[in-house]
Amino acid sequence: MNQNILTIIIQLAYLVASVLFIVGIKMLGKTHTAREGNIYSAVAMFIAIVATLLVQEVLSYTEIFVTILIGSAVGTYVAKKVEMTQMPEMVGLFNGFGGLASVLVATSEYWRMAHDANIAMPVITGVTVVLSVIIGAVTFTGSMVAYGKLAGKINGNAITFSGQHPLNAILFLIMLVASIFLVLDPNNDIYMIAVLAIGLLLGILTVIPIGGADMPVVISLLNSYSGVAACFTGFVLNNQVLIIAGALVGASGIILTQIMCKAMNRSLVSVLLGGFGQGGSSAAAAGGGSDMQVKEVGVEEAAMIFDSASSVIIVPGYGMAVAQAQHIVREMTELLEKKNISVKFAIHPVAGRMPGHMNVLLAEANVPYDKLIEMENINDEFANTDVCLIIGANDVVNPAARTNPASPIYGMPILNADKARTVIISKRSMASGYAGIENELFGFPNALMLFGDAKATITKMVGELKEM
Ligand code: TAP
Repeated sequence: MNQNILTIIIQLAYLVASVLFIVGIKMLGKTHTAREGNIYSAVAMFIAIVATLLVQEVLSYTEIFVTILIGSAVGTYVAKKVEMTQMPEMVGLFNGFGGLASVLVATSEYWRMAHDANIAMPVITGVTVVLSVIIGAVTFTGSMVAYGKLAGKINGNAITFSGQHPLNAILFLIMLVASIFLVLDPNNDIYMIAVLAIGLLLGILTVIPIGGADMPVVISLLNSYSGVAACFTGFVLNNQVLIIAGALVGASGIILTQIMCKAMNRSLVSVLLGGFGQGGSSAAAAGGGSDMQVKEVGVEEAAMIFDSASSVIIVPGYGMAVAQAQHIVREMTELLEKKNISVKFAIHPVAGRMPGHMNVLLAEANVPYDKLIEMENINDEFANTDVCLIIGANDVVNPAARTNPASPIYGMPILNADKARTVIISKRSMASGYAGIENELFGFPNALMLFGDAKATITKMVGELKEM
């Protein structure tokens, strides 16, 4: 085929892929279009790969297809095997591989140019190679540590030592100097080795001081880095679709990180400096310690309260994921609706431990999307609701966020669960949640504690409701 026509076809394919990526990402923003958005993005990726393969510059088609086959087989197996709750660590792994791919492509491009006497590497190419290698290397090792912490393969606690931040700063400065030398003298491999080695080391050193519970934020940030690294690799290769796709991942990752930090009332700097959330999950499991006066309710009495209500809002939280209570909660919802009781779910942006955690769990249990209402849209409805059932949520309904300036979660937007006429809280004990603080809501006059594992309690309640 004529070379010019081929170039036009490839550029057009890249344009179509880029538009599909943008449309796909937009559709991922809404629960009911997310599935389709995923398909659009996958088709875009397919078009981008096919178009790239049309310019066969490096390997033979046999090598390319064998590699694609192996990658697809591993990807399909892993995607089928992974549990929904393991999604953050899976995303962590993907980010890491994305970073590694950028490193490999940029270093091989560097190698090709630096070791060919006929090619003089332009300064701008040198700069993009360096940026691609640094960001890719930090993303790779940082993501591996984040994966290890989330998967419980390495100690999830914050690992800190004195002089940690100055050491990181010194390493960063050495890397910066080596980068400048590399750009000015690309034929000297020692600078590339130094940049790469320090980049890999910094990825580890910057993630180990962050506690396991903060890993979702870190993974979202590393996701953004992997996009930025890919974007720079796109400049190295002069490949438009890689630049656009990388920029989209970079921008969306940083927006998600910002949303998570805002919803947790934390600054990104405080997350990155570490030291928070190390005791969060253990505090939740530790139990007890509070002398707050609370009113308990039994399953039978709770079922009677639901039976006589006309409106119910369910607030799911991390404990629902722990108990895996989503299926029985859906069954309870259907039962209540049969009794003409309106049921809605109030979704806090950081309920659970990963973005969209509650949406994913409830979707898995086939709760219709239109029942899941985001915080801003449901908060005014609590005051006119008969019963609010809180299932394993704690921080996201803690009124201290509104009233107590000394509280670590002060200023965090919360669900107005306390405003409902009756609030029933399903949890195992008086233990705190992720933030490790007491929740005064449990002692409110309209609050009733329904103690026990959420799945076991709701199962019993469904039994009671069936008999009413
Ligand atoms: P949490 O405040 O963490 O509270 C969860 C509660 O679930 C605990 O108090 C625990 O009490 C209860 N629980 C645990 N296992 C249970 C079971 N089997 N049955 C019933 N209850 C159970 O959860 P939340 O309200 O969803 O808030 C999320 C927190 O995580 C926020 O502070 C947020 O900032 C943070 N965070 C979120 C994210 C994302 S992206 N979602 C990322 C990092 C951190 P018992 O032990 O007494 O049962």
